[in-house]
Amino acid sequence: MKLIESMAEIRLMCDALRREGKRIGLVPTMGYLHDGHLTLVNRARRAADVVIATIFVNPTQFAAGEDLSTYPRDPDGDRRKLEEAGCDILYLPRHDEIYPDGFASYVTVEGLALKYEGAFRPTHFRGVATIVAKFFNIMNPDVAVFGRKDAQQVAVIRQVIRDLSYGVRLIVEDTVREPDGLAMSSRNVYLSPEEREESLSISRALGAARDAIAGGVPVDEAEHLLRATLSPVIVLDYADIIDPRTFEHGVDGGELLGIFAGRVGRTRLIDNMVMSAVEG
Ligand code: PAJ
Repeated sequence: MKLIESMAEIRLMCDALRREGKRIGLVPTMGYLHDGHLTLVNRARRAADVVIATIFVNPTQFAAGEDLSTYPRDPDGDRRKLEEAGCDILYLPRHDEIYPDGFASYVTVEGLALKYEGAFRPTHFRGVATIVAKFFNIMNPDVAVFGRKDAQQVAVIRQVIRDLSYGVRLIVEDTVREPDGLAMSSRNVYLSPEEREESLSISRALGAARDAIAGGVPVDEAEHLLRATLSPVIVLDYADIIDPRTFEHGVDGGELLGIFAGRVGRTRLIDNMVMSAVEG
């Protein structure tokens, strides 16, 4: 696996690959990699000839008081995991090249980006949209692979691709979970054993709501069940059942996604689950 830190070098590399007719697959991450990230790399390998992963803890998507300075890091472990997963190039952007002195241009997304995560973290999606757009500009990938774990992030990036006319194909991979159901997340490392135990109620609650919907229970009732099944120690930001395309409240018989965000101790977790409507 080739390591690249210079923006000029990754640009030239991508230009050369494209001239050779190679399709480029991009997997952006913030590192501290787990199997969820690695499934994205595997998916990119199937969709492209050359896979580029990025590791960059993007400061503009963290608000003051969030975990930017303590975000977990494991550069050696990450490199080994990516190598084993068959990643071809690891781009480790230099902060001063991504955000040069006097940086003042952002990509802001309105509409669905203002709801849920956008309401609780008002500058978050601006940071995400800006860094992802910059990566598209620098590398011009054919495909980019993202995880459904961050369902609203996927919807925001889809909006950016359409609105700003990027020619990249978006591929979305399902959430990878621990054997006990907890969605894999770099932030799970913050949880104490007791908090981790309480966190299991998140996937249990989403699963209960999904099963209820599949059994014909109306959306509002399934939403009550979702909230009631969550551990009372969780400080809830939201637990709703929505339409995954608009992030408006879900309607009976429509396409439905159960979404959750809340704090377990000092750790903020998010999760979601696709809820299919009852057959016929
Ligand atoms: P990060 O949280 O490191 O996640 C990188 C990618 O891995 C995202 O597409 C995310 O949805 C996916 N992912 C995380 N946990 C997953 C899981 N359990 N199963 C499947 N996929 C999972 O998301 C970001 O970084 C940043 O916002 C980024 C897009 C890199 C921009 O800075």
